[in-house]
Amino acid sequence: MTNIILCGCSGRMGDAVSRLVADRSDAQIVAGIDINTSAAAQASGFPVYQSISEFPGKADVIVDFSHHSALPALLDYAVKNGTPLVICTTGHTEEELELMRSASEKVAVFFSGNMSIGINLIMELCRQAARALGDNFDVEIIEKHHNKKLDAPSGTALMLADAIKGERDNTEYVYERHSVRRQRDPSEIGIHSVRGGTIVGEHEVIFAGNNEMITISHSAMSREIFAAGAVRAAVYTAGKTAGMFNMSDVIHGK
Ligand SMILES: NC(=O)c1ccc[n+]([C@@H]2O[C@H](COP(=O)([O-])OP(=O)(O)OC[C@H]3O[C@@H](n4cnc5c(N)ncnc54)[C@H](O)[C@@H]3O)[C@@H](O)[C@H]2O)c1
Repeated sequence: MTNIILCGCSGRMGDAVSRLVADRSDAQIVAGIDINTSAAAQASGFPVYQSISEFPGKADVIVDFSHHSALPALLDYAVKNGTPLVICTTGHTEEELELMRSASEKVAVFFSGNMSIGINLIMELCRQAARALGDNFDVEIIEKHHNKKLDAPSGTALMLADAIKGERDNTEYVYERHSVRRQRDPSEIGIHSVRGGTIVGEHEVIFAGNNEMITISHSAMSREIFAAGAVRAAVYTAGKTAGMFNMSDVIHGK
């Protein structure tokens, strides 16, 4: 049985994870953490605390779907208690990413901007396309999300861009074409964000060449795919002692 502390339990993803874990026999949520300790969260069947430092018990792993500002307190708890941390939250600053890396020397830290198996597969396909097509094809990434999303571009768009960047000599990310009037440079990856309605998550990677275009895309139809990936990652990370892990480690069972 994997005992989970769920940070961000009152949110959309927190709700999806709680519902999914309730149907499983190999995992349970022993505590929820959320700055919003609403009646709905209190009725979820586990105790809810405003801060992880208030939780008096023990757990095997923390799953975080909250806000990047929650990170320092979660890392502090994880290191002090030797409790592995699965970070699914996106929008971290460079300093926060560095905090993650340094904490991972003492405790297991799993981090992925996208917990879906499909997105992690298209990352592989984008790497392959970038290798095969070289600098002759211009790369543009378009991501679409619901109108409540706080960060832009999405963590997933950045993961896809990073995967392509790893296969090229020079790459520069361009987010706002309207602010600069100049022709596109081949080294650029244009990253564009669309926000509206209840879109769960759409990502499209365009490789545009002379007279031909390749598009690799992924549509998330439900938050359940991220919740399922997060629980799979939690069970995987629970036994680990130190190091940085991601979805590729889970998929390949490293
Ligand atoms: N990695 C993935 O696959 C994936 C998938 C979906 C969403 N996300 C990310 O997960 C995060 C949450 O998404 P959501 O749609 O559930 O958002 P949401 O706004 O519905 O929920 C966030 C919850 O976190 C709580 N919260 C905010 N700051 C907090 C803090 N400092 N401490 C504790 N709780 C805090 C809020 O009260 C809220 O209940 C976002 O960063 C989002 O981009 C990642």
